Amino acid sequence: MPVITEIEDLKRIYRRRVPKMFYDYAETGSWTEQTFQENTSDFKKLRLRQRIAVDMDNRSTATQMIGEDVAMPVALAPVGLTGMQSADGEIKAARAAEKFGVPFTLSTMSICSIEDVAAATTKPFWFQVYTLKDDDFMRRLFDRARDAGCSALVITVDLQVLGQRHKDLKNGLSAPPKLTVASIANMMTKIPWGLEMLRTKRRFFGNIVGHAKGVSDPSSLASWTAEAFDPSLDWARIAKLMEMWGGKVILKGILDVEDAKKAAELGADAIVVSNHGGRQLDGALSSIRMLGPIVDAVGDKVEVHFDSGIRSGQDVLKAVALGAKGTMIGRAYTYGLGAMGERGVTKTLEVIHKELDMSMALCGRRNITDVDRDILLVPDDFEGRWA
Ligand SMILES: Cc1cc2nc3c(=O)[nH]c(=O)nc-3n(C[C@H](O)[C@H](O)[C@H](O)COP(=O)(O)O)c2cc1C
Repeated sequence: MPVITEIEDLKRIYRRRVPKMFYDYAETGSWTEQTFQENTSDFKKLRLRQRIAVDMDNRSTATQMIGEDVAMPVALAPVGLTGMQSADGEIKAARAAEKFGVPFTLSTMSICSIEDVAAATTKPFWFQVYTLKDDDFMRRLFDRARDAGCSALVITVDLQVLGQRHKDLKNGLSAPPKLTVASIANMMTKIPWGLEMLRTKRRFFGNIVGHAKGVSDPSSLASWTAEAFDPSLDWARIAKLMEMWGGKVILKGILDVEDAKKAAELGADAIVVSNHGGRQLDGALSSIRMLGPIVDAVGDKVEVHFDSGIRSGQDVLKAVALGAKGTMIGRAYTYGLGAMGERGVTKTLEVIHKELDMSMALCGRRNITDVDRDILLVPDDFEGRWA
């Protein structure tokens, strides 16, 4: 077992183990990848304030997200095709999250179905939906999520059309992978991944294949998105979906103060300040730059969560200091999953937890719920003056 001390270690192993098509799918942003890169580089511009001679005994990172107890304010974000990063990946990730005491979010675009994950876990998980044109299909999805005991619906509002990721087009991304000379040659170098994949029957989009009608090629993410997603999504439709669900709702993909105000008015239980990990609008500001202004505008009206760019516990701490009540990680756990399956996701959570806990202590705080803006050093121009 290699010594894993940071998320980057898991990423290196992940790259060796998983076919290029799926590594590239995760490790990319849209178009020039400016926003994808700034999501992480902007975190580095924020600094933490070292404090000393403060009692650091009996620390706790435990808190709540949408009223649910969590061991730390970190949820696993919805990540499509997780079951291609490692066989039965969604089940492995959900189990790791459950054991650690953090929420797991299942993507609409998962390989394991809602029912598969429910059967393999004992605690409720969150279910993420994209807004699709077909109301019947949405209704059935909601019923399935309700039957599976999902405790919250995450509605992703920043993907009516799919941001272009050059590598996915060049690699011909699909699930299961199409067999071409290049993909076969690459998979021949990923034998353990391939053997595990042969042993599972879950190799297709489990929530869609056999459930959605009229999809010409459900193995292709691009064609399914183009055909099924609802480009006319507006606030009225979001309100209708919230009503159709009837339970707790998290609106994910908000990057603008005006949109955050609207989401708060609709009565969402939480919003996620997010630019989809830099996978949608390239040229948008990094998510961490927008967190402060959004918390200032709506933090007293709706629970604000954050994602995009988190690669360490220090990043989680910075987001919490800026006012996030919870965070989500996407790639950080995908690296762990691809590297070592369930153990790797657990490792991701352990690394982030340790970094969060220790850094919080070194900032002179014992409880994550006491962390505030005071522990942060923010450069004057961090949010920038954009006209
Ligand atoms: C490979 C990959 C697949 C994703 N699939 C989905 C998805 O199916 N639904 C969704 O709402 N967000 C999806 N996202 C976005 C994540 O939920 C999350 O917003 C993003 O990963 C956060 O950025 P980070 O990867 O820097 O942590 C995906 C992200 C990645 C990296």
